[in-house]
Amino acid sequence: MDFDTSLEQARALDRRDQLGRFRERFLIDDPGLIYLDGNSLGRVPKDSVALMDRLVRHQWGNRLIRAWNDEWMGLSRRIGAKLAGLIGALPDEVIIADSTSVNLFKLIAGALKERQGRRKIVTDRVNFPSDIYILKAVADLLDPAYELVVLPVDNGFAVSDETLERAIDDDTALVLLSHVMYKSSYMYDLARITEIAHRRDAMILWDLSHSAGVVPMACHDLGIDLAVGSTYKYLNGGPGAPAFLYVRDDLQSRLINPVSGWFGHRKQFYFDTEFEPAAGIDRYLTGTPSVLSLAMIEPGVDLTLEAGIGPIRTKSIDQSEYLVSLWESVLMPLGFRLNSPRNGDRRGSHVSFGHDEGYRIDQAIREEKKVISDFRMPDNIRLGIAPLYTTYEELNNAVQALAEVVTSGSFRQYSDVIEGVT
Ligand SMILES: Cc1ncc(COP(=O)(O)O)c(C=O)c1O
Repeated sequence: MDFDTSLEQARALDRRDQLGRFRERFLIDDPGLIYLDGNSLGRVPKDSVALMDRLVRHQWGNRLIRAWNDEWMGLSRRIGAKLAGLIGALPDEVIIADSTSVNLFKLIAGALKERQGRRKIVTDRVNFPSDIYILKAVADLLDPAYELVVLPVDNGFAVSDETLERAIDDDTALVLLSHVMYKSSYMYDLARITEIAHRRDAMILWDLSHSAGVVPMACHDLGIDLAVGSTYKYLNGGPGAPAFLYVRDDLQSRLINPVSGWFGHRKQFYFDTEFEPAAGIDRYLTGTPSVLSLAMIEPGVDLTLEAGIGPIRTKSIDQSEYLVSLWESVLMPLGFRLNSPRNGDRRGSHVSFGHDEGYRIDQAIREEKKVISDFRMPDNIRLGIAPLYTTYEELNNAVQALAEVVTSGSFRQYSDVIEGVT
């Protein structure tokens, strides 16, 4: 479709939007606020408000300790099984636990132990820093002789298939990559890279934080070994909501959980001093879950399942194409660069615009235009598309806001010293 810059077209696109009806399922108190940061912290589903009230008044308030047996003990598993449907996993291959960072620690250590004898670990420089820090920390802890290969970018956004093919060899124990890059939104070909790793019998661990809930995938059918991901971004689980982890069914009895706590024990309430791992995915639990936060993940997962990951991806691509088209006609002439792939098939659900004054521009649209995007060093203004509630009109207004603060020069009054959450 040919896009133009008019608000009329944006509104017409919204009227035709098959997923438009989902917006009213979210708490939107200020309709004037243009929220394009659902890639970092999703909006609140209205069902979460009612659920939190029930949880506090009834489950915690009335049922007290009995609520563990009523409901809470099975929550990590039950929500994990639902979430499995969004990433193409079997219901008993996913569980909710801890944070993405902690789950990375657990799965990296498990994988390295399982592939003991192999010395090489492969990742890339555009991976999320926490992933690289933890990879290095675990490798050092287990054996300083590990060789950690952090591949430089060679295809503009990430690492080419050919370079990965050369880097992964018979000595490679583990490959850890993000499916969608947090800065550029570049998306690796999950099937192809998994196949490259498996050809050399290396394990692959995918960080799905920026794709879960917006990109269809088939973790089990592709034979993906391991995955982790966030629930507070596109899944709308709430600030700091626990993360998910996936372990392919046949690997679950082979990979240790290095943080083997009582929640991962086979008979937790026998209080044995010997650790005996639970059967299946439960062994990757560690300690008492943060129940309030954990429970809040379910409404967002339910909404995503109801809308369907296929229609969500279709809308996400269409909206990011729309943004790219507005960039070309409105923003490019003002010095903005497209820091995301042009090809929709290789792009996740956010679009990054680069500008030398990116940080000040990001503050200016927030303060003056009520447009919430975010900023990632050195020059990326990220606009997140959350197809369950993002409208074309919002995208149009955000682009006009970016143009206006640059044209007027108003961004110059903001500091370029990075402070707080960006
Ligand atoms: C791709 C990616 N991986 C890992 C993390 C770390 O997640 P957490 O802080 O929840 O451990 C983030 C956080 O935003 C992320 O974007």
